[in-house]
Amino acid sequence: MSNEGDIFVRPLIQRKRDGKALTRAEWSRLISAYAAGEVPDYQMAALLMAVLLKGLEEAELGALTDAMSASGSSLAFGPGVPPRVDKHSTGGVGDKVSLVLAPLVASVGVSVPMVSGRGLVHTGGTLDKLEAIPGFRVNLSLDEARRQVEAIGVAMLGQTEEIAPADRKLYALRDATGTVDAIPLIAASIMSKKLAEDLSGLVLDIKCGSGAFLPELEQDMELAQTMIRLGEERGCPTVALITAMDRPLGHACGNALETEEAMAALRGEGPADLMEVTYALGVEMLVLAGTARSRREARTTLEEAIASGRAADRFRALVAAQGGNPAVVDDPAVLPQAPLARVYEAPRAGTVWRIEPRRIGEAVAALGGARHEVDDDVDPSVGFVITVKPGDLVRRGEPVATVYARDERGAAAGRAALDEAIRVGDGDGPEPLPLVSHRVTATSVEKLG
Ligand code: URA
Repeated sequence: MSNEGDIFVRPLIQRKRDGKALTRAEWSRLISAYAAGEVPDYQMAALLMAVLLKGLEEAELGALTDAMSASGSSLAFGPGVPPRVDKHSTGGVGDKVSLVLAPLVASVGVSVPMVSGRGLVHTGGTLDKLEAIPGFRVNLSLDEARRQVEAIGVAMLGQTEEIAPADRKLYALRDATGTVDAIPLIAASIMSKKLAEDLSGLVLDIKCGSGAFLPELEQDMELAQTMIRLGEERGCPTVALITAMDRPLGHACGNALETEEAMAALRGEGPADLMEVTYALGVEMLVLAGTARSRREARTTLEEAIASGRAADRFRALVAAQGGNPAVVDDPAVLPQAPLARVYEAPRAGTVWRIEPRRIGEAVAALGGARHEVDDDVDPSVGFVITVKPGDLVRRGEPVATVYARDERGAAAGRAALDEAIRVGDGDGPEPLPLVSHRVTATSVEKLG
């Protein structure tokens, strides 16, 4: 580690500490020196904490995002490639939308170069769900991803060393220093990766509610508007939907179980809430891409692609291209199976008041199905299938869920988690959040639910 970092970074930390702005050139130099290993982690951690406490001015946010994006390469499609649109979700419990949405949108002529993340603690990640498919390879190079998008219109990959490596390093440092929860840092981190995809448009699925990364609507709105501004100013039209995460999405929670549910969705047998969120995001993607004249037309196009099997065919092609077994679309037995399945019955009669998503997500992790630390292994087979939703009437002793576990101890822990997470009461119970509550654009906030 050279001393040079020490010397030029110290005054930047002091300025940020005092609530003053750094220039674009300073952000650029700082981030490229950090990515090159020339700035020690202790200095960068101090600077990140100053950002968390004092915030970033608009110009600084743009400069930081651009510097992180420029630390790597971009997909850089040539002219003549059809419109490319991606979706980013802030993550939730049971959120398997990407596995349905990416092939669905690609099957109707809009390319989807999708860079996704892994799950951490209570929220799952798309890469873990894809890796539940035997043989599926998510570590594509940018060159491979570009060629695959040009050939079949879709690629689903992880953040490699090529994509915003400065963000990768900074994210690990933020995780270790309590500086993840700063909206400007989150927005810059996500957008630095999305901008490397060379997109014609981006749709954000910002989850709201107790199981979300940011549970409060006010924070979600701020994150949405910050990312929209970053996208729009960089020539990437961006729209956000705020969607409910006060209960799990769909029925399945746990990697292989969610992949199985996503395959059912591609075959036209998906749960209503999963399909509603998928179609709502897909409509935005088609409208941004300019391939649908109206939202109604976009919705019809997407429904037809599911009904005709085109979306499922595109997922088979995607799985085959990335080394996996395409039989997964029709045969859940291809996926890893948990040794034990134990039915959980309603402890009393009444109305399902709540299904607490955070408790379910944490229980999946406790079963071995999600990470506590970035490098942990995950067991894809474990988790829950919860067949009821808030508002449903249940009889005492009626089966409402199944725990999938490695052993009896896990099954007992899973049942205990369901005892806490599923609340059955008398009368209507608390009103759940609208499934899709707001549509946010650069110029408007539309209340939908
Ligand atoms: N996801 C990211 O990619 N970055 C963040 O900072 C938070 C969530």
